[in-house]
Amino acid sequence: RRFSSPPSKLVFFRALSLTKPLGGGMMESALTARDRVGVQDFVLLENYTSEAAFIENLRKRFKENLIYTYISSVLVSVNPYKDLEIYTKNHMERYRGVNFYEVSPHIYATSDNSYRSMRTERRDQCILISGESGAGKTEASKKILQYYAVTCPASDQVQTVKDRLLQSNPVLEAFGNAKTLRNDNSSRFGKYMDIQFDFKGAPVGGHIINYLLEKSRVVHQNHGERNFHIFYQLIEGGEEDLLRRLGLERNPQHYQYLVKGNCPKVSSINDRSDWKQVRKALTVIGFSEDEVEELMNIISSVLHLGNMQYGGDDGGSACITSDTQIKYLSRLLGVSGTVLTEALTHRKIIAKGEELMSPLNIEQASAARDALSKAVYGRTFTWLVNKINGSLAYTDESNKNSSVIGLLDIYGFEVFQYNSFEQFCINYCNEKLQQLFIELTLKSEQEEYEAEGITWEPVQYFNNKIICDLVEEKFKGIISILDEECLRPGDASDITFLEKLEDTVGSHPHFVTHKLADTKTRKLMGREEFRLLHYAGDVNYNVNGFLDKNNDLLYRNLKEVMCMSENKILTQCFDREELTDKKRPDTAATQFKSSLAKLMEILMSKEPSYVRCIKPNDSKQAGRFDEVLIRHQVKYLGLMENLRVRRAGFAYRRRYEIFLQRYKSLCPDTWPNWQGKLPEGVSTLVKHLGYKPEEYKMGRSKIFIRFPKTLFATEDALETRKQSLATKLQAGWKGYTQKTKYQKLRRSAIRIEAWWRGILARRRAQRRRKASDTIRRFIRGFIYRHQERCPQNEYFLDYVRYAFLMNLHRNAPKNVLDKSWPTPPPALTEASEHLRKMCMQNMVWTYCKKISPEWKHQMEQKTVASELFKDKKDNYPQSVPKLFVSTRLNGEEINPKALQALGTEKMKYAVPVTKYDRNGYRARPRQLLLTGDSIVIVEEGKMKQRIEYGALKGISVSSLSDGVFVLHVPSTDNKQKGDVVLQSDHVIETLTKVAICGEKADNVNINQGSITFALSQGKEGVIDFTPGSELLVAKAKNGHLAVVSTQTSG
Ligand SMILES: Nc1ncnc2c1ncn2[C@@H]1O[C@H](COP(=O)(O)OP(=O)(O)OP(=O)(O)O)[C@@H](O)[C@H]1O
Ligand SMILES: [Mg+2]
Repeated sequence: RRFSSPPSKLVFFRALSLTKPLGGGMMESALTARDRVGVQDFVLLENYTSEAAFIENLRKRFKENLIYTYISSVLVSVNPYKDLEIYTKNHMERYRGVNFYEVSPHIYATSDNSYRSMRTERRDQCILISGESGAGKTEASKKILQYYAVTCPASDQVQTVKDRLLQSNPVLEAFGNAKTLRNDNSSRFGKYMDIQFDFKGAPVGGHIINYLLEKSRVVHQNHGERNFHIFYQLIEGGEEDLLRRLGLERNPQHYQYLVKGNCPKVSSINDRSDWKQVRKALTVIGFSEDEVEELMNIISSVLHLGNMQYGGDDGGSACITSDTQIKYLSRLLGVSGTVLTEALTHRKIIAKGEELMSPLNIEQASAARDALSKAVYGRTFTWLVNKINGSLAYTDESNKNSSVIGLLDIYGFEVFQYNSFEQFCINYCNEKLQQLFIELTLKSEQEEYEAEGITWEPVQYFNNKIICDLVEEKFKGIISILDEECLRPGDASDITFLEKLEDTVGSHPHFVTHKLADTKTRKLMGREEFRLLHYAGDVNYNVNGFLDKNNDLLYRNLKEVMCMSENKILTQCFDREELTDKKRPDTAATQFKSSLAKLMEILMSKEPSYVRCIKPNDSKQAGRFDEVLIRHQVKYLGLMENLRVRRAGFAYRRRYEIFLQRYKSLCPDTWPNWQGKLPEGVSTLVKHLGYKPEEYKMGRSKIFIRFPKTLFATEDALETRKQSLATKLQAGWKGYTQKTKYQKLRRSAIRIEAWWRGILARRRAQRRRKASDTIRRFIRGFIYRHQERCPQNEYFLDYVRYAFLMNLHRNAPKNVLDKSWPTPPPALTEASEHLRKMCMQNMVWTYCKKISPEWKHQMEQKTVASELFKDKKDNYPQSVPKLFVSTRLNGEEINPKALQALGTEKMKYAVPVTKYDRNGYRARPRQLLLTGDSIVIVEEGKMKQRIEYGALKGISVSSLSDGVFVLHVPSTDNKQKGDVVLQSDHVIETLTKVAICGEKADNVNINQGSITFALSQGKEGVIDFTPGSELLVAKAKNGHLAVVSTQTSG
């Protein structure tokens, strides 16, 4: 009825937050790849209006374990009921910083998208996770949190916050989740969690708001359901000691509050290990041991309360029959046992200004007890949330730049066989969220088109505001009526409430009761029920318990007792001011209504993303795709409308200035700046980009782009352009820096060069000046060189001197025989002579110093020879290089007799000679020996003649080169037989020796032509010397001895 004739036909378009770069190409290619497994975005469905096609696509993907699909930016998730291994760190990395459409749909893509929007646009985000119980909302929110914990930048301090954020889950789940028929880990409270990020994008804090805990579960569970996990965890996992202190037994069956659902064990739950995890989590969050103990005191006191037994006394008043529980309770709650007992069995009534204690009957007493249990548990849960908030609080006030991402994991739309106050609240909450969805996206979208003057195809959708109003409207709404019944004096009951509803809202199109219904509907309804036609479906609510639950009454005396508690947590939960406050506290429904209103405000202020969770079957089975169930969810999640709108409207819109600013680089006319009007600039730009008319519309202040692919193409172009711009900028900058560097280098080089050239030039000029000065002085000096030393010539003269000395230094004779000597300038003639002598002396001296005694002896002899024969005898020069020997005959060559005849005289020299006798000048071989004082001529062993040096008058030789010589002896000496004519092959040496031994140097005569010598008895002989070619000694015809002298002898 509702869907066929919507009460208000509004027209809307779905906004798409396409502010992030999107990869169009990827999407195109993904299209073909996903034929087999359906499309990854419902927007790409051919037949987008067909629900069957929609569900078929979901099924195809579900069969391939592809549980995520988009409707544009909305993520649809189907609970796989099995581990898919798609939540690894690698997967997180794959989605990190990647364009939304580049990778297959994933909860991480949605998380990353929100994160990046928050970072780039500095706008708070929220992710709204919706779906029915068991559809995977809580799991999704945990995945998102894990994604941020792993991928966001972190410091040590942030690590603590991350740990606490993550660890808040097990704690809240232990106290706020329970096994229901639909979900083994069903969240029995609504949760909105803000994650705060600092300006660097690191998670630095968090804040949790909880909504309407299902407190009734503490005292009652439907068949097959359990109480909150923490009770079982404590009993199964608590240490022996702890249990003893708490007075608990390790058996849940012993506790009345745990046996109502008859379901103590659940195969998918391990209470013992969960306990360990919760204990650890409490520590991480910052609970002290004492706090944990106090918390457990409260939990166990609830169990003890449940086990309290009442008996009736005679008057029907209730009394407590066993005092074990009271004993424990008084200790655990820190209150007096008697006061507690009285409070549990009586009610304080104020009548006529007097306080009266009125006893309760058993039924009333049990109700009071249950109310206390619920109040204690409910308030402790709120305290727990506050405590966690304290530990997550971002304390750094200086940093105002933090942004938040909100995660809303709130109970989904619920329909049971028997629906009570809780379902009413929960479903009302879902109406509000749907309303928000419409507000945020659909209606505002329509208004925007209107404001921008864009025409559009009308799309019909159902606006559920009418249902919200039905529930929440002031005075006329169901909640107001309920409150009224609760507060009104007199005998108000659930039934009177129902009647009041019929009276007040009976005509409302979304409200039916048994009485008001047509016959067909009446069959499906109880008399105590009213039916609301929710946007998501019809639900019958049984009014039983509505008033009580709405009142949420706790007798005043029980409150007073709790205010006296010594348990530190309870003192925070039960405030004394509450007792004195005369104002009646808001009813549960009103509280819920205002907390929802606040939540709407929070969500409105943020940019939303949606995760729509779908539950594939009711049996929690993997791989089962229950089409009826899914169709129902698709319907009430509004997914088809979502898609229709998405396809009908414009996918993207941006204010002209923002659009132009972003894409202006893609058109030469708009780059780098557009000077004209903005719309014209945008128009020019999109025309340049080749947008077809049907692809976009120009609004008053915004451009609207119909298809994502148009935008993707533009984004792609921008991405490419960015690259080239960046390259250009880089190149430009690199060029600039290089150029500046080069120019600096060049300037420096030029400066150094110039400086160096200057130095060189100055040096050269100086040298030239010096040279010309020198030359000038030189020339002047040359001109004046013959004058006395005067300023004009002193340089020149000095130079000449210097040059001479330097020349001398270089060319001085190296040995005594080298007689060369540089010619001195006139001024140095004398000095030169001195120098020459000194040089010679020096050389001689050096030479002499090196002379050995033997050589000295030799030289002495040579000197003598030189004095005797130099320039006088022809064969002297040949004798010079030949060394004189000490003797020409050694001992063996001389006859021993001759030696004997010498006696003591020592022989100094011996040489073979030829003697020419006086008669006929016959040649006779002899030996000439020199001793200390005489010359001895020996023939074999005979001493032929002995001439004492003293008796030797002289020695004659020719000037030619023959070896003939004459020893002149006095003719008076009879012993002598006249002068002796001898010939020696070593005449120079022989005569030198004779001269030295006999000191006869002055007595050597060198004769030209001939020698006259004395023969015996006064006769004279002549020797004639002639030069010739061959030595010849013979008696000439004239009786002379003729000697033909050659060059050979010496
Ligand atoms: N992505 C997933 N992968 C594997 N199993 C999942 C996934 N999501 C959910 N489940 C399974 O489904 C169960 C129910 O999920 P979850 O508790 O998140 O539901 P819910 O929507 O929060 O329900 P409720 O409204 O009751 O709190 C989980 O305990 C888990 O076993
Ligand atoms: Mg949940």
